Amino acid sequence: MFAASALAVAALAFASTAAAEQHQVTFTNNCGYGTPLFLYQGNMSPQGATTVQGQLNGGIAWLDNGASCATNGVGCGAVEFTFQNTGYSQADITLEPEGSHNYLYPIGFNFINGCSNGLFCDNPNCIDQASFSPTQVPLADCQANDSGINVIFC
Ligand SMILES: *[C@@H]1O[C@H](CO)[C@@H](O)[C@H](O)[C@H]1NC(C)=O
Repeated sequence: MFAASALAVAALAFASTAAAEQHQVTFTNNCGYGTPLFLYQGNMSPQGATTVQGQLNGGIAWLDNGASCATNGVGCGAVEFTFQNTGYSQADITLEPEGSHNYLYPIGFNFINGCSNGLFCDNPNCIDQASFSPTQVPLADCQANDSGINVIFC
């Protein structure tokens, strides 16, 4: 009897460690205006904070201010991110004029659920320090499985 229930507990523990991959996206908006939104390759409809099941590839988050941001963050500062349970999870801030992004508000992020590092930009001169480009690092990365991101505005 005891042995059987111990086995059942062990089976449950195994099931929970084998839980499906997931990545949480949260927002902190200190600007006093706007609506934080993101989209990613698996769901191109802009949405608010949520937990994505499976890999999260090609994510981009921005603060919809009702005016200058297109429905994919173009026109505004944005955070780009990809999360995979392969040790490949990274994020950056894009303010690149060549990518039609602009510094309109302070923007940054920190990883959550396994890492806490991140980047923050509070002035237009961050462009060359924290934007997405093969030649312009840093990107921030996180090796933890099921890690997520908190995107910060202002
Ligand atoms: C992370 O997830 C992958 C894919 O499911 C798995 O192969 C790997 O063992 C996991 N790593 C850790 C540290 O749990």
